[in-house]
Amino acid sequence: MPTQNIYILAIESSCDDTAASVMLNGKILSNVVAGQSIHEAYGGVVPELASRAHQQNIVPVVDQALSRANVDKSQLSAIAFTRGPGLMGSLLVGTSFAKSLAYGLHIPLIDVNHMQAHILAHFIDEEGFEKPPFPFLAMTISGGHTQIVQVNSYFDMDVIGETIDDAVGEAFDKSGKILGLGYPAGPEIDRRAKLGNPKAFKFTKPRVDGLNFSFSGLKTAILYFIQKEVKANPNFIEERLNDICASIQYTIIGILIDKLKLATKQTGITHIAIGGGVSANTGIREALKNGEAKFGWTTYVPKFEFTTDNAAMIAIVGYLKYLEGDFAAQNVMASSRLKI
Ligand code: KG4
Ligand code: ZN
Repeated sequence: MPTQNIYILAIESSCDDTAASVMLNGKILSNVVAGQSIHEAYGGVVPELASRAHQQNIVPVVDQALSRANVDKSQLSAIAFTRGPGLMGSLLVGTSFAKSLAYGLHIPLIDVNHMQAHILAHFIDEEGFEKPPFPFLAMTISGGHTQIVQVNSYFDMDVIGETIDDAVGEAFDKSGKILGLGYPAGPEIDRRAKLGNPKAFKFTKPRVDGLNFSFSGLKTAILYFIQKEVKANPNFIEERLNDICASIQYTIIGILIDKLKLATKQTGITHIAIGGGVSANTGIREALKNGEAKFGWTTYVPKFEFTTDNAAMIAIVGYLKYLEGDFAAQNVMASSRLKI
């Protein structure tokens, strides 16, 4: 335990959520997220609008994070920010804000990789949540990412599988769009899936070698299937919506679980941690839990507010890097394709 109190202010702005969080010695004091409903009308994130909304939100969001934590900016030890990966225009807002604040306060600046942060969110001190032991496998599933990462220690991670096209969240959202559901469609598909028959319709799983994923073929298969059925019965979607949702979700979960089985077989690692917005899916959570008895896994799901994009996960990485004295220079640049 550090003898000194280390306060980290963290800023996340990689996609369409403007977020700030204050952490004291590994514990979250505040976690503020401003979403951007403006994208709903477009059925997906519009980068230019996201960047503009970040500019409007960042000052009030940081201000709220500090006041909810009851921390004054003069108490801060360092500023952590998301350097990448993400949308360039969005990243630039958080990066320049963090740089100026650290410069003005004469405190260190810490750059954070968003994908590492999704994984290290499991190390936030939170009652009732166990931290996974090293090495473990992390599956990061969201609207922007789908990766399986072998995590050997905090900063020694190898990406052993990832999507070659769409992210898994996009598979949910694009299927939802075909069915006329709102954006993002993941939560609604999840809700309807509980009321439907997962085996009502069969969609072929993509064949991708090794631990990589592909979801774009599934989306096309669903589109053709729906077009064909609607031609025969114009009320098909209305009449069978719950069954369609259940079948799509069942197929997606099957793809994820198959790859995890292969990953545990290849690495011999049976501790599995998940993160990202799609880890909210009740079907995936259930399938992982069942895997404990079936395949000998131990699974870890973080607190919900730390699974979707948030700044608490940036704060924990900032804290861990602070302890190592791993700081960024003032000329650090945002990097939209930053790798783990
Ligand atoms: O992590 P996140 O908030 O943002 C990024 O994409 O980084 O994830 C959003 C994604 C969306 O694709 C949304 O449809 C999906 O997570 N999602 C879900 C559920 N809740 C959110 N997908 C399936 N089932 C859910 N319950
Ligand atoms: Zn994310």
